[in-house]
Amino acid sequence: MRVPLNHWYPVLEPREVRGKPVTVERLGVKLVFWRSSAGVLHAQRDRCPHLGASLGTGRVVNNTLVCPFHGFAFGPDGQCVKVPALGREGRIPKGLCAETFVVREAHNLVWLWWGDAEAVADSLPFFADLADGWHHHGFSTEWPVHYTRAIENQMDIAHLPFVHHNTIGAGGRTVIEGPYVEVDDSVIRVWATARKDDGSPLRSAEELEQAARQRPPTQVLQLPGCWLLNISPAFKLFLAFVPVNERCTRYYLRSYWRFGPRWLAPLVGWLISLSNRHILSQDYAVVVTQTPANSSDARGDQLIGADRAIVQFRRVHARLLERSDTATVESTP
Ligand code: FES
Ligand SMILES: [Fe+2]
Repeated sequence: MRVPLNHWYPVLEPREVRGKPVTVERLGVKLVFWRSSAGVLHAQRDRCPHLGASLGTGRVVNNTLVCPFHGFAFGPDGQCVKVPALGREGRIPKGLCAETFVVREAHNLVWLWWGDAEAVADSLPFFADLADGWHHHGFSTEWPVHYTRAIENQMDIAHLPFVHHNTIGAGGRTVIEGPYVEVDDSVIRVWATARKDDGSPLRSAEELEQAARQRPPTQVLQLPGCWLLNISPAFKLFLAFVPVNERCTRYYLRSYWRFGPRWLAPLVGWLISLSNRHILSQDYAVVVTQTPANSSDARGDQLIGADRAIVQFRRVHARLLERSDTATVESTP
């Protein structure tokens, strides 16, 4: 699967990997996640280098992952440390290794470094605003869509009064001013205003830029796939778009809020998530119909001014892919 290389990708929530190894598909590759005795998380390609069996059905023994087929045991660094058929004194070839990946747990997410292990970035593409002092609640779901269409759907403002006419798009605000968009390397900030079509002229680009200086962006995308919607200073929506494969994207959608007492948070979270599930199901109905599946192939899409955020997403995404194509072959997972 072609995705930007040398980036951190949110891939799971920590609670999804407990006692047993877990196999999931991410970025078009079957991966096994497992924890050693201190609870430290490890990720390897879910393919035993001996005869290709899935390691995900194996067991964790003495901080090693043991293949169920012939009992080879692999350490967290991927090195095979035991081959039962060779006996206790047998010499294990140095190159007998399972392929490993760099992972990190932070912000209640598991992050996978996809690319050159020598080039691991220090910082994660998460939002500093959400670091501390928030309640959060969310859910995950998988859609049969390419991640590009999934991301663009969230950046698309003009669909609200149509797809969400009886929820967040109620009120018939069909006219989009701007949006004003700023790009800073792999971060896209969008200021959007929607209003009713009363015939009044649209504000100029300068007026929109000036207005943007007065308030935080409506939404921010940190490529490859972390998105934030600023609903109010005390209420935000976070979405992690996780490429599973060419035909599937996993969503981790969370609300973050800092109002109300702590004891009420579970109920507040549950109610917001219920509403978010409904809103997302309205998007689902149209996004699964979009062709071509991957927006990188959608050269025939006739974009309009209101689609500026989507245009910028395509530009930045294409640039990251180009950069990935020039990365060294050794660095390609
Ligand atoms: S296939 Fe894994 S030990 Fe043989
Ligand atoms: Fe939507």
